[in-house]
Amino acid sequence: LGMRHDLYIGTAVDMAALADPADPQYRQIVSREFNSVTAENVMKWGELEPTRGTYNWAPADELIAAAKRNNQKVRGHVLVWHNQLPTWLTTGANDGTISKAELRDILKNHITTVVKRYKGKIWQWDVVNEAVSDPWDNPPTLHYKGFWAQHLGPGYVADAFRWARAADPKALLFYNDYNIEAFGSGDPANDKTQFVYDMAKQLLRDGVPIDGIGSQGHLGTQYGNYDTLQVTAALKQFAGLGLATAFTEVDVRSQLTAGVQAGDSNEINPRLQASAANYSVLLQACLADRHCLSYTVWGFTDRHSWVPGWFSDPPEGLATIMDENYQPKRAYNLMKADLIHS
Ligand code: G3I
Repeated sequence: LGMRHDLYIGTAVDMAALADPADPQYRQIVSREFNSVTAENVMKWGELEPTRGTYNWAPADELIAAAKRNNQKVRGHVLVWHNQLPTWLTTGANDGTISKAELRDILKNHITTVVKRYKGKIWQWDVVNEAVSDPWDNPPTLHYKGFWAQHLGPGYVADAFRWARAADPKALLFYNDYNIEAFGSGDPANDKTQFVYDMAKQLLRDGVPIDGIGSQGHLGTQYGNYDTLQVTAALKQFAGLGLATAFTEVDVRSQLTAGVQAGDSNEINPRLQASAANYSVLLQACLADRHCLSYTVWGFTDRHSWVPGWFSDPPEGLATIMDENYQPKRAYNLMKADLIHS
């Protein structure tokens, strides 16, 4: 897709698609269009260590090797998250056979093992992912949510960054989340961007080695367009703390109703226009802020996208910048224009 001299354009990579001999186009597009890659799944704990003590490194190693061949940077995703954890870990913690102290050791050991293995090869690590609740669960106040907060308390966030820094002092360490794309869009007491901002500020005060905030960018055309000023404001707030920013998982899905079907790449389809506009709002905000280091799409083709599998009632899709046959959609063309004119 091209680039501002210092802005990296990335994609999440589905390793099964990358390895599929029947699908050479997927590989070609990954290497032709992007200069940064993220593993969509293979660096997650459940995939890396399905059996306690036995790591399955091969797919993650292959991602790193492919990136090297293609001269691409790698965003490491993800060290600490409440989803896609190994069953032995969640079961053990929940039934008490793994104590709190042991769980903390296991987490430290995991972070240290993974970060050391890829030391020098990862540009940005998503150290902690999605630690904060959403405005719609338990309003009116936000809180630390999920498996790790439940078992270890919120202090695990600071611990995780410290352990990651010790294992690879040069990798940039990110906190990554969704619904933090805009600033000033909601009730301040229940605003996730504000919560993450306050969290980052406190971590920095406490001397915790956090370098950046990853804003995922999973949007939907049914929610309307983002306001450029609010997106710009969010990036600026984080930059004001001395942090880097990045859009890490951008996609803009639509509900598939009559007249809007999977595979539809019609340029004048209003949902695809709205999707393109949202891609562009985030990209322009990133281009305008030198602290915004990279812009990553969460898959680049509707042929391989998490959206249809996840949102089924009502069905959603058409979230990426190319259709199922790798034809560029309006979003691709608009991004290209933004990048050329930057
Ligand atoms: O690997 C198994 C396969 O063996 C099995 O046959 C198949 C049957 O269901 O499942 C496969 O695992 C699936 C995995 O993707 C790999 O395809 C899981 O069921 C499925 O739940 C998993 O979904 C991933 C999702 O995270 C899970 O939380 C999506 O691909 C991935 O795009 C999505 O990515 C997350 C980011 O990491 C964090 N931010 C949100 C984003 C979207 O949810």
